[in-house]
Amino acid sequence: MAAELPIPVYTNLDDLYRNLGTTVNHAVRWNNLAEEFVTRFSRKPAYIARAPGRVKILFTLSSGEHIDYTLFGCFPAAIERDILIACAPRSVRTSPSPYSSQTGPDLESQQVSGSVVAENLHGKYSRQTFVPAKKLSWQLDIDTKQLRWESYVKAGYYGVLNHYFTPAAGSDGHPVPVDLLVTGSVPAGSGLSSSAAMVVASTLAFLAVNGKLDDTSISAQGMTKGKLVEMAMENEKRVGVNSGGMDQAASVISTANSALYVSFFPRLSAQPIPLPGASTTSISISPASSLQPRAVFVCANSLVVSDKLVHARTRYNLRVVETLVAARVLARRLNIPVGEKEKVTLREVLGKVMGEDAGGGEDMDLGILMHGLERMISEVELLKPNQRDDGEEGVTLEEMIEWSGLSEDVFREVYLSWVDGNGWFPVEATYFQLYKRAKHVFTEALRVLQFREVCLRASSPPSLSVLEELGNLMNESQESCSRAYECSCPELDELVQLARDAGAYGSRLTGAGWGGCTVSLIAESEVESFIHKIKNAYGPYKGLQGEELHEVIFATKPSSGACGEYSYFR
Ligand code: GLA
Repeated sequence: MAAELPIPVYTNLDDLYRNLGTTVNHAVRWNNLAEEFVTRFSRKPAYIARAPGRVKILFTLSSGEHIDYTLFGCFPAAIERDILIACAPRSVRTSPSPYSSQTGPDLESQQVSGSVVAENLHGKYSRQTFVPAKKLSWQLDIDTKQLRWESYVKAGYYGVLNHYFTPAAGSDGHPVPVDLLVTGSVPAGSGLSSSAAMVVASTLAFLAVNGKLDDTSISAQGMTKGKLVEMAMENEKRVGVNSGGMDQAASVISTANSALYVSFFPRLSAQPIPLPGASTTSISISPASSLQPRAVFVCANSLVVSDKLVHARTRYNLRVVETLVAARVLARRLNIPVGEKEKVTLREVLGKVMGEDAGGGEDMDLGILMHGLERMISEVELLKPNQRDDGEEGVTLEEMIEWSGLSEDVFREVYLSWVDGNGWFPVEATYFQLYKRAKHVFTEALRVLQFREVCLRASSPPSLSVLEELGNLMNESQESCSRAYECSCPELDELVQLARDAGAYGSRLTGAGWGGCTVSLIAESEVESFIHKIKNAYGPYKGLQGEELHEVIFATKPSSGACGEYSYFR
């Protein structure tokens, strides 16, 4: 299985690029990063970790939005844009960085076990130094109230420290002091998973620099892709967003030219599905380029910055709570027993309805899962609230608590003041939308399986009807995200409409939504004119040219997942 493979470590760039399946000029970026590392830290990096961003639709198919944390399978792919972290253990620091925009702890303290000097090639992110504290477990001060670039570096580090450097983990060893330098081509807040890519790259960098990639104390095979995903998922929660695992899985497990069917229940598993007709030879991703032979997907940034953390209370984390409460209420109305403090998910409720082995043995056959989803799409009507006198939709907190059958105290403890690791996930709403959210989840999970099926049976090159079928599923997904899940925004709605008017087979938002990017399925021959039409029609793109334009709207292809490079500079 793809999740059980080790993390690829390449010893020369040719192998790396061949495996990434891309000709994007990574060499320049890797070289710049390494040279800059030498300038700033007076020695060569020992390791460069790479983690790509993620897009949840590709060449011929789409995936599921906001269903990973309900434990339904989704269908993402990694994109070519990535985060790179160069790092090296520090022994003696010879001189302060000439680029320091802020003075950290004194240089001596930086020799302390586990201390980190983190710099970012992007001028807007200042240098940070931090030293983890060892108490019962390792502690790192992560600010969950505001967006700070180094929080994602710390989040990756946190897991490495607590998995590998505690007596409970069978180790009293000391983490090495580390210098690291980050660069990224995944636009922040764009819905392309820059946060997951940062956390994956950081986890990988700290594992590598501490010599833990081959460590067999946690798993007999050393660090596998699946283990890295699980660690990165746990780590990202420390930033304060209760996210699912799709981004991390895409970032770590993807293979070039394939989408990844990721399932989270009863355990993480991933199956790369080759895209019909996708070329395995390298292509350029300049705006005029394309996937061979018939269609490409084009990401367009709405330029509405949407960070999951900033509005987590009323958006992302609220959706997580709404789907969980929906699962409990649905179970109750279907007479399915659920433990008082159990956070049952919608996927688990489906399993119980379908008589799935409660021990969570084998993955459910996908045909049976599709029947189960069809059934749940009708059962979800049980959640429909009565019309309100004030014309509003949904249920109040009091009504929701009553529907759950729990006492107020237990409800608050389980769903509203839930502390998970380092993260506390408070939410806020006047009316909670259990029915609409659950309906989106079941229909979206079914669309994922339909996309997967169409993709598997498509000929290569895919026929026009296949592209149209997939485009329709993408459009339906957008409709559901916009109306039922309410995670779109006017700019995204406008962009997808413009994309369809400009000839896309289908177009939808990707990522958490509320801003960020759309992804559109476009005929290969139309990419250039498509980008031109969008540039002229979408207000925020007016006046953008060349590289600036390419930054916001670009064709891309599925790339491979996280990897590391050890010996480049030896
Ligand atoms: C974010 C999260 C993912 C997923 C998507 C929505 O990107 O990190 O886990 O929930 O939103 O599909």
